Amino acid sequence: MAEKAHVDTSHLAIGIDIGGTGTKVGLVDVEAGELVGKRCRLDTPADASAEGIVETVSAALGDLAAQCAEAGVIAAPEHLMKLPVGAAFPGVVKRGTVVFAGNLTQAIGAPIADLLREATGTAVHIANDADAAGLAEMTYGAGRKHRKESVIVTTLGTGIGTALFTSGRLYPYSELGHIMMGEEVAERQMSVAAMRRLELGFEEWGARLTTYYRELERLFFPDLFILGGGISKRSAEYLHHIDVKTPIRVAKLLNNAGIVGAGLLGANQGRPRVGRRKKG
Ligand code: BGC
Repeated sequence: MAEKAHVDTSHLAIGIDIGGTGTKVGLVDVEAGELVGKRCRLDTPADASAEGIVETVSAALGDLAAQCAEAGVIAAPEHLMKLPVGAAFPGVVKRGTVVFAGNLTQAIGAPIADLLREATGTAVHIANDADAAGLAEMTYGAGRKHRKESVIVTTLGTGIGTALFTSGRLYPYSELGHIMMGEEVAERQMSVAAMRRLELGFEEWGARLTTYYRELERLFFPDLFILGGGISKRSAEYLHHIDVKTPIRVAKLLNNAGIVGAGLLGANQGRPRVGRRKKG
């Protein structure tokens, strides 16, 4: 890409997606709802403390800054952190502190927002990862034309994340991957990690997902389910095994929904809203 003297960055934000296995960062075009250039990914250390998570985020941001400056998207690496920043976290973060995490349990109790601000030198707006992915899907993806309806977005991966929307508003921090189904929480039996651990085929996994989504139907009567997470790109192999009344749509942003939603959250100054806030 050619070098630009004055680089317009008003439509850009940084999205950070902290996951149970990988931490991904990317530059997000919040008008188009897509990544600019490639995302940078590092492994999230297993049994990571909050400090370990923050170190990983900082290292990934360093890689991103170098990549963006080289591509001419920003004038110099140190300009990256002048952009708004949002982060998606796989748990519940209230008033900047982790109060619940399905997998990254070592981080519970940590003041993650302060740690990220100290490490990056800027405010980092944080949301639950499924909420961030849901915001992206409702703004740019499979939920765009369904904003007036009641929509449940689920992300299937290491855990099961959920985001609840009604009339275009998010009810944040729903943890419906943790509803009890029999003796165990749902995500222990129905996540992608569970499918792999239990060596289930797609048909059997689909049958389990049917039980799960029927339970969500019974409790919430949604108008639409949106199925997300990296596995959505293989939806042709399992979608027909999920037998529920509610229409299902496959997420459009696939594995980038978390980063894009985090970027949108940053651009909206931490307000977890569907759509982009107009500047003015
Ligand atoms: C966490 C959720 C998260 C989901 C997907 C669950 O274990 O409790 O907060 O959204 O995994 O990462």
